[in-house]
Amino acid sequence: MSEAITTVLDETRIFNPPQGHQGHIASMQEYRTLRQQFETDFDTTWRELAREHLSWREPFTRVLNSENAPFFRWFEDGKLNLSENCLDRHVEAGLGERTAIIWESEAGEVRRYSYNKLLSEVCRAANAMRELGVESGDRVIIYMPMIVEAAIAMLACTRIGAVHSVVFGAFSPLALRDRIEDAGAKLVITADGGGRRGGVHALKPNVDEALSEGCRSVAHVLVVRHAGNEVEWSQGRDINWHDALNVQPDHCEPLAVESEHPLFILYTSGSTGKPKGILHSTAGYLLWARVTMRWSFDFRPETDIFWCTADVGWITGHTYSVYGPLANGGTTLMYEGVPTYPDPGRLWKICADHGVTIFYTAPTAIRALNKAGDEWPNKHDLSSLRVLGTVGEPINPEAWMWYHDVIGKGRCPIVDTWWQTETGGHMLAPLPFATPTKPGSATFPLPGIDADIVDEAGLPITEGGGLLIIRKPWPSMLRGVWGDDQRYIDTYWKEFDGRYYFAGDGARRDEDGYFWVMGRVDDVLNVSGHRLGTMELESALVSHEAVAEAAVVGRPDAIKGEAICAFVVLKCEPDDSLVEELRAHVSKEIGAIAKPDDIRFADSLPKTRSGKIMRRLLRDIAAGREITSDISTLEDQSVVQKIQQDRP
Ligand code: WT7
Repeated sequence: MSEAITTVLDETRIFNPPQGHQGHIASMQEYRTLRQQFETDFDTTWRELAREHLSWREPFTRVLNSENAPFFRWFEDGKLNLSENCLDRHVEAGLGERTAIIWESEAGEVRRYSYNKLLSEVCRAANAMRELGVESGDRVIIYMPMIVEAAIAMLACTRIGAVHSVVFGAFSPLALRDRIEDAGAKLVITADGGGRRGGVHALKPNVDEALSEGCRSVAHVLVVRHAGNEVEWSQGRDINWHDALNVQPDHCEPLAVESEHPLFILYTSGSTGKPKGILHSTAGYLLWARVTMRWSFDFRPETDIFWCTADVGWITGHTYSVYGPLANGGTTLMYEGVPTYPDPGRLWKICADHGVTIFYTAPTAIRALNKAGDEWPNKHDLSSLRVLGTVGEPINPEAWMWYHDVIGKGRCPIVDTWWQTETGGHMLAPLPFATPTKPGSATFPLPGIDADIVDEAGLPITEGGGLLIIRKPWPSMLRGVWGDDQRYIDTYWKEFDGRYYFAGDGARRDEDGYFWVMGRVDDVLNVSGHRLGTMELESALVSHEAVAEAAVVGRPDAIKGEAICAFVVLKCEPDDSLVEELRAHVSKEIGAIAKPDDIRFADSLPKTRSGKIMRRLLRDIAAGREITSDISTLEDQSVVQKIQQDRP
């Protein structure tokens, strides 16, 4: 168990919500009433919510279709358009001059996009995409830095019914190629490069490399000129974004699609094999993006400046940097750059400069900024902040307290939100002006979310540890794994015979009923809030010619949460340069975020007699802990001693 988790087990502090402000959900009494409503009148409650919060082209009559479970369908006979809900609706309501997006570059350049301007840019981009042959249902890969054009590209896809798949800019050309091929994308939208640590992180060359093999489906690459780095140009295939948009009219009729029309695919790592394409659909996803903004953050579109630091390459960036704030007609901030550039006060300076009121980030960032020292936040006026959020991994009470005291000055509720790429939006979270919080706990399920903690047989656990599950379907749930229905069933529904959605996380319930999420129970690592499958890392390692066998485990890390520790059996003699070479190799195969922190060479790996790698044992060794696992089933007892002697 990591240090963070053991300290969580002793946590008893409780913080009452601030007084004097009425939240969208104003009290625990109101919360319980709403939960009860979902329980007793499931269909009606969802129906009313979807009617109130979304703008429909054709109203739906049926709420949930479970006939082909677990392939659930929500609001299926309704029609709507997502970009219309995020843009036209607000412009028509007279809010066209309100700022939709504030963008700041690492160099400090600031751009503001009003709803009017964003709408006309989205229309031009949608028209340009259509002219390039993109039709409803076609897939479009977006491989971009954190610039407004990334959001424009996403919204433009939704305007014409195209399905986007955003690939995080730090993924390697090979990882990008896999995703392009799996999605069968027709178009890739990219930029020459992005600004990073005062330099340029090139993107277009990665696209060229990805497309150099396979990827037959790709007809065009749309390139935003942004960082100014030299790029090669493939005549006929590559198109300059600005040229393409300039000639287009700024009107584009939004296509009304069915509620279940596929909206986007987002790849995420699993415990086996290749990353899987998590598929989301239109209406249910959008509904939950809009509603959770209000419930979990108490979002007030008229006055709030909302900043979620996540890149659009992750689900958090989809739901809370782009769709959630815009669905509500509010203002969202995008920052293109590293959080510590030019100094560790950068995020706090941005909060002060733009009057950020709601700030949402990951525990790994909180820990890193805490470590940098209080002088950095203390240099800036943080009095505009009113709600602070966290997501991505369990937050240790120390980091929570620092966030609460030093950033929030004890005034701002901390909302620890538990959810996943698969859930589309928040599942467990406190209501900032209702729920008493405990440092390290995501508190309770949101209204409408039937989450529970059960034992291996599926029986609820009243107090203690178990597995986190969700019983009833919810609108923003994944609709499947792209191109692999069986994997969807196997990964999420097999564990409990189709009765519950299995999240893959362990959790504990305390005596007050609070949920404490403890982390993954499968072979998935959480490194700085990013999910990485151990199998994926292992196959990247064994694809190197010198490697015979590899086993990857997580090791507790004070900043990243988990660090990547690889045990490698070589085909040759180890030499000094090999560690660096293998790290670079994994980075090339997957991306820089997957670089192993430790590489340890071993003569062989500890296995059971049936040939399974004993990961628990390796985790103990990696952490430098006393070996607590039962090693009686180990095939060759001497292996353990040898690996331990090999310690670097
Ligand atoms: C996994 C999902 C969804 C946003 C970012 C990550 C872990 C997420 C929390 C939290 C404890 C958390 C879980 C989950 N996780 N939020 N508040 N407390 N753990 O998305 O890449 O799909 O990863 O992140 O282990 O299963 P993701």
